[in-house]
Amino acid sequence: MALDIDFVRAQFPAFAEPSLQGQAFFENAGGSYTCRQVIDRLTRFYTQRKVQPYASYDASRLGGEEMDEARVRMAALLGVETDELSFGPSTTQNTYVLAQAVRKWMQPGEAIVVTDQDHEANSGPWRRLAEDGIEIREWRIDPESGHLDPEQLENLLDEKVRLVCFPHCSNVVGEINPVTEITAIAHAAGAFVCVDGVSYAPHGFSDVGALGPDIYLFSSYKTYGPHQGCMVIRRALGEMLPNQGHYFNGDVLYKRFTPAGPDHAQIAACAGMADYVDALCDHHGGPVDGAAARGAFVHDLMREQETALLQPLLDAVKERNSVRLLGPDRAELRAPTVALSLDRPAQPVAAELAQYGIMADGGDFYAVRPLAGMGVDPARGVFRMSFTHYTSKAEIDLLIEALDRVL
Ligand SMILES: Cc1ncc(COP(=O)(O)O)c(C=O)c1O
Repeated sequence: MALDIDFVRAQFPAFAEPSLQGQAFFENAGGSYTCRQVIDRLTRFYTQRKVQPYASYDASRLGGEEMDEARVRMAALLGVETDELSFGPSTTQNTYVLAQAVRKWMQPGEAIVVTDQDHEANSGPWRRLAEDGIEIREWRIDPESGHLDPEQLENLLDEKVRLVCFPHCSNVVGEINPVTEITAIAHAAGAFVCVDGVSYAPHGFSDVGALGPDIYLFSSYKTYGPHQGCMVIRRALGEMLPNQGHYFNGDVLYKRFTPAGPDHAQIAACAGMADYVDALCDHHGGPVDGAAARGAFVHDLMREQETALLQPLLDAVKERNSVRLLGPDRAELRAPTVALSLDRPAQPVAAELAQYGIMADGGDFYAVRPLAGMGVDPARGVFRMSFTHYTSKAEIDLLIEALDRVL
């Protein structure tokens, strides 16, 4: 069954917002619109439960229950145990905290593999461990295509490597990396795996349990939710890494790597993302049982819709002389996050496109290393168009027409 786009768009108040009419939103990789299920929960928390949670009076008890519900339901959707999911302020803050734990866990002379395909959030924090004598090995992208070759990873692995960090999908290359295959290679060499899922998760939540990594990170402000960093840490690794929170919370897995006081309202509102997935699943006649199976059904609906809309956009840009398309030109290999290197700085081009109702941007998108790795001057930047399942065909047509005028 195809995605019912009218139903989908009716779940997002932004599409009915007068000040946003006549414009097409193509900066979803920066942050998505928020679904009404999340907005409703956030509003309810702020109006009815804005007290310290987990006490026995009603407002507090209900607030705590909603925070627990968010963890229970999102963990089930992701195919992991409830306490293997924690909420931090952002993915970047989560990786900096994790890197502090790893810093204490590893010995000088041991090694970490990082890529030059990652957003800085899954790169810089790990590279800083060199200050403590940890060897940093860089798994490099192909300078032409931006592709990460799993075979090259095998050459970097030996008994010294404790952790391999890579993206599910880069925020400028867009290619979907084979997480399960790469994880198996790393695990066979005795290393743990940390996957940045930020650029992939908006296109459908993964069954992280089945996918296989030890750490999987994404940012809910890009997956139709509130501004949180969601972090799956599988038990075996999470219990081995030293606790980064208060000492008396160390036996609670989901508190070990989120030292900041939690944002109660936003955590509670994360349950709205599960509501949204449920609404899509039920509307389209998906499976009745099993949160991960329902999530997989919705994931496939989203991917199918996005892939169909993405190919015409790729076809419209790939042959232009003034444009270098980063990453694959076949929709099935990539997310709909399309970065173009141009013959001029990207930001003024985005400004020109704004006059035709295109909401997008140019810059380095904190992917300075990937751009440099592909020979793109980060100061000139790339023009990036990113969309999701809620984007309509009419919006893609508007974008292609605007590109025809400006490029
Ligand atoms: C691929 C990728 N990883 C990590 C991040 C960082 O996420 P956060 O803003 O939650 O720190 C981003 C943000 O744009 C991203 O695109």
